[in-house]
Amino acid sequence: MVEKTKACVLISGNGTNLGSLIKNSRNYNFPIKIELVISNNENARGIKLAKKYSIPYKFISSSSIKSFERNTLFEIKKRKIKFLCLAGFMKVLSKNFINSFGYKIINIHPSLLPKYKGLNTHKRVLKNNEKYSGCTVHYVTSRLDSGKIISQKKIKIKKNETEKSLEKRILTQEHKLYSKSIISLFK
Ligand code: GAR
Repeated sequence: MVEKTKACVLISGNGTNLGSLIKNSRNYNFPIKIELVISNNENARGIKLAKKYSIPYKFISSSSIKSFERNTLFEIKKRKIKFLCLAGFMKVLSKNFINSFGYKIINIHPSLLPKYKGLNTHKRVLKNNEKYSGCTVHYVTSRLDSGKIISQKKIKIKKNETEKSLEKRILTQEHKLYSKSIISLFK
């Protein structure tokens, strides 16, 4: 049995990545234990998952990013959290927050970074007739979807691919890549 690092997952939406992290983290040799879920969206579907698996969760408004960061730091320090995962969390964190936390913060993004940072990635990828897309796990910096790349999974775009089909196929890959990347960081 490994000694698990206490982790917090930040979400804003559906939380399917959160769901796969929760499931995998229940494996006895997975390196992190999710001790807290923080959502900046009161109606995020991911909150239901935290409830279902009895993981403490908090809604923290991000209408002021400063107060979001202050409250988040308070909650994670209180619980001795030493690892942060962003999973569909749609805000950029400040340098001050990242430095004050002082431990690793990672994110997953549905493109082959550094290409297609930001929103509407699948739409832009298809519009540009890209042959490939995929997903990336990377360290978080105060610049949007930047930071050192930890791992990527590339998939081939099919004929007649739609935004929806691409989103679905990439999400399936995200769920695998996120956990694999976390395991690799603790080896
Ligand atoms: C995922 O595709 C994730 O990569 C993306 O939001 C989706 C969240 O899905 N994140 C970003 O675009 C961050 N820049 P989920 O809530 O079902 O995990």
